[in-house]
Amino acid sequence: MVADVHLFEPLTVRDVTFANRIAVAPMCQYSAVDGVAQDWHLQHYGSLVASGPGLVVVEATAVAPEGRITPGCLGIYSDAAVAALAHLVATIKRFGKARIALQIGHAGRKASARRPWEGGTALPVSEGGWATIAPSALPFGPGWPVPAEVGAYDVDRLRHAFADAAIRADGAGFDALEIHAAHGYLLHQFLSPVTNHRGDVYGGPLDARMRFPLEVVRSVRRVWPAGKPLGIRISATDWLPDGFSPDEAVAFVAACKGEGVDYVCVSSGGISGDVRIPVAPGYQVDLAARIRHEAGILTRAVGLIADPRQAEQVLATGQADMVALGRAFLDDPRWVWRAARVLGAVPAYPPQYVRVRPDLWPGARPGGAAAADRPSV
Ligand SMILES: Cc1cc2nc3c(=O)[nH]c(=O)nc-3n(C[C@H](O)[C@H](O)[C@H](O)COP(=O)(O)O)c2cc1C
Repeated sequence: MVADVHLFEPLTVRDVTFANRIAVAPMCQYSAVDGVAQDWHLQHYGSLVASGPGLVVVEATAVAPEGRITPGCLGIYSDAAVAALAHLVATIKRFGKARIALQIGHAGRKASARRPWEGGTALPVSEGGWATIAPSALPFGPGWPVPAEVGAYDVDRLRHAFADAAIRADGAGFDALEIHAAHGYLLHQFLSPVTNHRGDVYGGPLDARMRFPLEVVRSVRRVWPAGKPLGIRISATDWLPDGFSPDEAVAFVAACKGEGVDYVCVSSGGISGDVRIPVAPGYQVDLAARIRHEAGILTRAVGLIADPRQAEQVLATGQADMVALGRAFLDDPRWVWRAARVLGAVPAYPPQYVRVRPDLWPGARPGGAAAADRPSV
């Protein structure tokens, strides 16, 4: 590797070393059956590890059945689901050196939805959906059911569900764990004043709104091995004047750090459906930079980072310590090779694919598909 390419510098967190600063963002595949990973997941994650990202984050995985976003979401609440995840991790680790993280979460009031390609709308109980819970009995939007308010019993049950998920994720062989507290799902619903109208110890000022998410973090860190990294994903702003704000995000992340969280992935939005987000290349990077500097924690930037030079710039300017890419990896699972060629680093090829190396294959061109792929005129 070329030493001064930040993207290809290794990063060690606790006992785990990531070979570079490139992560594949968690991306639901909506292709599980009863929470259990299928062959689709093997080929999907298998293809993503081949080009050598430092980290692949396995999609949002529900800690309880009613915490799945859709009937096709992964879970970690049954023995069958854990066995399938263990098989997934063991298999993809044979195909590449990427470290593998699991994102665990609970969808709260956004659970029981149709898959995106079936419309993504609320899935009623009469059509195979299920009852939902949330900090307050407020529906996600028109056409969505009113969730039941999380009670004292649920608080206990959910804390245990997150901790059990961590124990199972360790047993399944994951190298890192990420708690999903973003995108309008349950933990974000507790954090945001938009969705949390509680009058008890879990609602009101920020200290109270972050109490439950911090209890979850604490229960997870207690059982997650000391040598393995724990991350959290947040929505650093609701993009609403009265919503969860970047100031609050800094305070929450600092508190998470105090509970043993090692890094944060800074996303945004998702708390309600009718919010305008100023989407543009790298539109969440400033939020990541602010959190990194003010909370003093390892930070991953995400969101419309697709160009290798842009990704390198985010790291070179100290805005983040890692970058995560989602759709760019779906579009080009070999993005790491492309980035290496563009930035002048030497990509690591599996031996089966070494013949595409630019010095061995005249068809390779910097930063893109092979010249031979282009139609001849
Ligand atoms: C198909 C798809 C599924 C996603 N599923 C998840 C998920 O499981 N958990 C999550 O935190 N974000 C999820 N996201 C958001 C991505 O992780 C990422 O933050 C977002 O796509 C912006 O990054 P990008 O511009 O590089 O795609 C998903 C995005 C896509 C496109």
